[in-house]
Amino acid sequence: MKIIAGNWKMNGTRFDLDKMLSDLSSISTNNRIILCVPYTMLCGGNGSVSIGAQDISTHTHGAFTGEVSAQMVADTGAKYVIVGHSECRQYHGDTNDTVRQKAALAISNGLTPIICVGETMAEKQAGKTMSIIESGVRESIPSDVKSDIIVAYEPRWAIGAGLTPTADEIASAHTLIANTLADMGLAGTPVLYGASVKGSNALEIMSIPNVDGVLVGGASLKSDDFIPIITSVK
Ligand code: 13P
Repeated sequence: MKIIAGNWKMNGTRFDLDKMLSDLSSISTNNRIILCVPYTMLCGGNGSVSIGAQDISTHTHGAFTGEVSAQMVADTGAKYVIVGHSECRQYHGDTNDTVRQKAALAISNGLTPIICVGETMAEKQAGKTMSIIESGVRESIPSDVKSDIIVAYEPRWAIGAGLTPTADEIASAHTLIANTLADMGLAGTPVLYGASVKGSNALEIMSIPNVDGVLVGGASLKSDDFIPIITSVK
């Protein structure tokens, strides 16, 4: 069983989500399917697909125009929320500290956070990939986690660029994350890989040790692209 999560980013309408849910209901899979959609489309999903948001506020409520709290996301019936996505780190100033606060709020409101870590191109070129990943994991996860969380490794330089790290690079990153999680008392936490996943590389990526699933951007928008990823693994 793998976790196949889609991140629709700022794409789609409720019509598109209805169509995707209907298309996905016709496939047979043991994998856990999650769709992280814009706030306007949040809902309870259905028996085969769970729904998640893509970000939440660091605040619980109050005068924060435009922000959406963990409690509000949970109120829609959604079960997951991505925190610390590279685009939120890049465009909205998320740091490991704010990501940890968001993850804690997600957990206390009954949501499972999908906590993203990953290195930029500049960090990769400076030879800092491993230290950025390890500090991302250690600093973005709240210290007293007792319920389920998911971690996603997203090499920031590869997202949306059609680039993928080598299988060895993915294996090294995921082994480091698994070992770090074990050291934090969180052994067994699922670790997803995300960046340029498509039908043609999904099986190879999900066969790498310590890769428990994928977080898919562009190729999760259309069922013709998403279904082959879901059905590539049992
Ligand atoms: P792409 O699959 O489009 O590279 O996006 C990955 C991503 O950001 C998933 O969260």
